Order: sequence, then C-alpha cells, then structure tokens
Amino acid sequence: MREQLDQLLRDAREKIPMAPDMAALDVLELECLGRKQGTLTAVLRGLGALSEAERKVAGQHGNAVKQDIEQLLAAKRAELTRARIATLAQDEWVDMTAPGTTLPRGAVHPVSRAISEIAAIFERIGFIRSRHPEVDSDYYAFEALNMPVGHPARDEWETFFVAHATGGGGKKKEGGRIVLTPHTSNGQVREMEKGLLPIRMVNIGKCYRRQIDATHTPMFHQFEGLLVDQDVSVTHLKGTIDYFVRAYFGEERRTRLRPYHFRFTEPSFEIDISCAVCGGTGFLSSSFRGVRNEGSRPSQDQATKCKTCKSGWLELGGAGMVHPNVLVSGGIDPKRHRGFAFGWGVERVLMMKYGISDIRLLYGNDVRWLRAC
Ligand code: PHE
Repeated sequence: MREQLDQLLRDAREKIPMAPDMAALDVLELECLGRKQGTLTAVLRGLGALSEAERKVAGQHGNAVKQDIEQLLAAKRAELTRARIATLAQDEWVDMTAPGTTLPRGAVHPVSRAISEIAAIFERIGFIRSRHPEVDSDYYAFEALNMPVGHPARDEWETFFVAHATGGGGKKKEGGRIVLTPHTSNGQVREMEKGLLPIRMVNIGKCYRRQIDATHTPMFHQFEGLLVDQDVSVTHLKGTIDYFVRAYFGEERRTRLRPYHFRFTEPSFEIDISCAVCGGTGFLSSSFRGVRNEGSRPSQDQATKCKTCKSGWLELGGAGMVHPNVLVSGGIDPKRHRGFAFGWGVERVLMMKYGISDIRLLYGNDVRWLRAC
C-alpha cells in the first residue's frame, strides 16, 4: 500500500504543476481526492485487509500523502490566480480617456430652417403662423378666391387634381374636385371663416404644381401673409414687405410694387427686390452702382449687364389688397374691413438669399451639398 500511495503522490507532483488553468486543476483534484471516485479513496479501501498495526502506519501515510496533494493543489491555484491578475491588465484594458464613437450628426434641412426664420420674422410684427390643408377642395383653392369653375385664370396654377375624388357629400365648400393646393392662398378664406378679427396670419405649407426646371419643383413651399382689419391700405402692405425684405435679406435691400393681376386681390402687384449682385443697378461695373435712371445708364462698352437680374430687380412674388368678393366668401363685410395678402415661395427666397441657382439641389438629398448650404 505504501508503494501505491507513493505512486499516487508522484503522479500528483507531476500532473498538478502542469495544469493549464483552474478548470483542469479542478478535474485533477477530483481524480486524486474525490470522495467516491478519487484514486486516494480507492487505495485506502485496501486498509480493511491489513492488520491493525499495518493499518495505523498506512493510515498515517495516507493522510500525509493527502496533505501533500492538497498543498500542491493550493500552490498551483495561487500561481494560476497570480498569472490571471498579471494578464488582466492586458486582456481587459479599457482606455477611459479615448473619445467615444461619434454618431453621425443630423441637421435641419435648409428649407425647414428658412421656414422657421420666416415665421419668426413675421411673429415679431404679430403675424401668427397657422396651418391649412395641403390637399383641399377646389372651392378653397379657387372658387372662394374669385375664380369660378371654368375661369381661365385658373390655368396659371398648373394644378394636380386628385383622381376621381370629390369631397363633402354634396356640400358646396367641401364638394367639387379635390386638389393638391397649388398655392397657400386656400388658407385665406379658411382663416376668415374662423370668425376672429382682426386677422394677421402667416400660412406656411407645401404647394404642388405640374412643373419642373431649374426654378420649379412639383412640390414646393409658400408662405402666405394675410391681414384683415379696418382702414388697411397699400401703404401697410408696402411697409410689411419692406420690413420682411430687410429682416430676411439685409438692410440694404429695396422693394418695388409692379402692377399685376390676380383674381383674388385688387389692386394686385408683383413684388420685386433689388438685386444683391449688382446692387440694384443692373450692371456689374462698380462705377455705376446706385445709378438707375434711364438717362444715365452706361453703354455696353462701359459696363456688363448683371447676369443674375438683367435689370437690377428680382421677382419675389405676388401680393395685393384682398378682393371684396374674397372677403364676402370669408363672411367679412367689405364695407367695414379690408385686408392685404401676399404669397411667396420659401425656396425662392432661400435661393435668392444664398445665390442657389437650381432649386432641385434642395431636394437632391446630396448630404455633402446640404451640409455646405
Ligand atoms: N397665390 C399667389 C400665387 O401663388 C400669390 C398671391 C398671394 C398673390 C396672395 C396675391 C395675394 O402666385
């Protein structure tokens, strides 16, 4: 038995120091010292066959072997733990000072930015932003605006009609054909119908027309100003336009009203603003800046024509005094109240401000371009 026990200890001395990790060491422990299957237990089972004196000696020797093995195991365990701690700093190293992964940063689209800017400018003079349908009945888009069914003036609006749709269950206002609003003027009568006077609204929304080129897209945005009050005149309209143009484009910009025709305003105007490129002169030679009257216009060889405006002025959009028929459509007595309205393109003012030559760039979704814009 002594020989068996010594052999057991020799095996243990050989194997335990070689254990590669804790799991292997646990297996070895079970193999040597396991209560039921362990080799030591198996050897000691032979004790019963020995005489009492021999049993005592063998028993003591067995205990000594057991203790030696336990020491071997403890020493190896300590060694493995030390090694693990030593490599931990390498294996699980985290640089707490390294910058985090940056997520791509989103940004507000230039058109949305322009909308907020425009709304804020009008808010300062008491125009409240309102929203009206972008898909609306023919009535609000045309009829209520003094353009009866079949009127040729409607042609200008290149309207998209919603296929087969007629709304309103026979009611006049909601009835008729449904259109994708070709302008934000549909909000005029809708705003009047709220029955709250005076009105100072700016309706900013999407519009749709059947058109596409460098200055038009089928979907675009307009902002529509409407003021209805007592004693309103063209002077108020001009003052409001001047205020907006200076606030949005810069103090040095001037405006002019050019006679025009809309069915829903009378008188009607096209609003022009002075060109920033040539300073409103129409010519690029600096010596002629500020000179605008016909008599002093330089000849071709003295200066080149401004390519941006060709005339010193850029067209901004339409405006006018609200037509009495439109006030009546909105339930307002034209003898007691008057109003002015204007409707301009958001993309148009944005392009004019930043010198963007093609509107389609705004909707091309090229993030490189949008980021620079
Ligand atoms: N709705 C007109 C357009 O789309 C602009 C306009 C608005 C003109 C209000 C006069 C008054 O061209």
